[in-house]
Amino acid sequence: MAEAYKELDPDNMPRSPGLTYQQLLDTDSHEVPDVLRLQSPRDMGTNEFPVTRYTTRDYHEKEVERLWKKVWQFTCREEDIPNPGDHYRYDIAHMSFLVVRNDAGEVKCYPNACLHRGRMLKEFDGNATEIRCPFHGFAWTLDGDLLDVPGRWDFPQVNEDSFSLPEIPVAQWAGFIFINPDQNCAPFDDFIKDLAPQFERWNLGGLYKSAHVAKVMPCNWKIAQEAFCEAYHVNATHPQILRSLGDTNSQVDIWDNCARVITPGVTHSPLLDYTPSNDDMLRTMMDLPHDADVPQVPEGMEPRAFMADISRANMREIAGDRVDLYCDAEFTDSIDYTLFPNFHPWGAFNGIVYRFRPNGDDHRTCIMECILLAPFEGERPAPAEVRWLEEKEDWSSALGYLGKVFDQDSFNMPKVQWGLETTYQTGVVLSGYQESKVRWIHHKLTEWIGE
Ligand code: FES
Ligand SMILES: [Fe+2]
Repeated sequence: MAEAYKELDPDNMPRSPGLTYQQLLDTDSHEVPDVLRLQSPRDMGTNEFPVTRYTTRDYHEKEVERLWKKVWQFTCREEDIPNPGDHYRYDIAHMSFLVVRNDAGEVKCYPNACLHRGRMLKEFDGNATEIRCPFHGFAWTLDGDLLDVPGRWDFPQVNEDSFSLPEIPVAQWAGFIFINPDQNCAPFDDFIKDLAPQFERWNLGGLYKSAHVAKVMPCNWKIAQEAFCEAYHVNATHPQILRSLGDTNSQVDIWDNCARVITPGVTHSPLLDYTPSNDDMLRTMMDLPHDADVPQVPEGMEPRAFMADISRANMREIAGDRVDLYCDAEFTDSIDYTLFPNFHPWGAFNGIVYRFRPNGDDHRTCIMECILLAPFEGERPAPAEVRWLEEKEDWSSALGYLGKVFDQDSFNMPKVQWGLETTYQTGVVLSGYQESKVRWIHHKLTEWIGE
């Protein structure tokens, strides 16, 4: 339980050599917002977590029963279903749910199952004036009220009052629609109370979905998710970015139902045994070839402030003068939050959101998604449709430089699955601080699943 996590004194705890993230923030050319000054390191012990969490059918089935059927989970963006009759199919494990916009503009959710003989009601996202089952034609209104029963005379047992589609709890936050399959669930406000205040400044609801990429990955959903929950792997997995990323300067914060890892950019890794030049650092940061011209950092200026200024100027066109309210760190750093169990919005202008979930009922594959959110001027642009990558398609084919980094992460994933199927160890070993977000996720799993 989170209450049992021991608070640590951020100024007096074991951590990597080199500057702390807070010391880096002291060099910011703009006022640093309170949210970045928060620190919440926790001592959650050093215990191992069972390998069987990633490998067994038994644990997967427990996750389905005790987690996925009970927990608040992100489905789609409000902008994905802007008009009455718009509907979105959300699948989790072996279940499917229909998220619907009704005529009053409210969002409803129903199990995607006909009350006659059970057929899935909608296979595809789309728009309809009613919810009609393709099998025998039973139909419901967008509000879930029974509308039509072909051969009505033949169903004396069907009663209009009690034959509505069951309503699934829905919540909306920052343009995201969440559902909870458990009709007796705890309120969403409690679920998001740690995270929501921290995002007030960044207003993700004011951004639009500029990209959405999904791919089936050959590993348990937690293996994929955990690859994005710490910067400890950067040294071995992404050595090319060490010249522009303060991997071991990362700050990890743990609250009850959310956690974050902030990793500074435009600063080199303290692990390097040399100091890269500004040219070298910016070339890496901007993914420029070795012979390309690199913008020159003016004498006496911090490279982080310089890069932030470039981003500010680029963003001003679409984001307006609010770019001046954002400090350097908000332009340069990875501010990667996690809301348990699988929703990962980034703070500030980075606009990245990850989601990881089991691929249907298969515990050895998963669906990994990356959504990009961007500011806009004037009318809200149409949201990007999801692009599904084929097995052999790289993330870089859809997401450029960011995708190149994902491809390196993805390369590890099936090998981690294979290794965990093989290992003679009973548990996975996690570091105390740098991997504490992964440790937090596992403590939460224990809390929900009971083992
Ligand atoms: S199963 Fe839906 S109408 Fe028969
Ligand atoms: Fe990575």
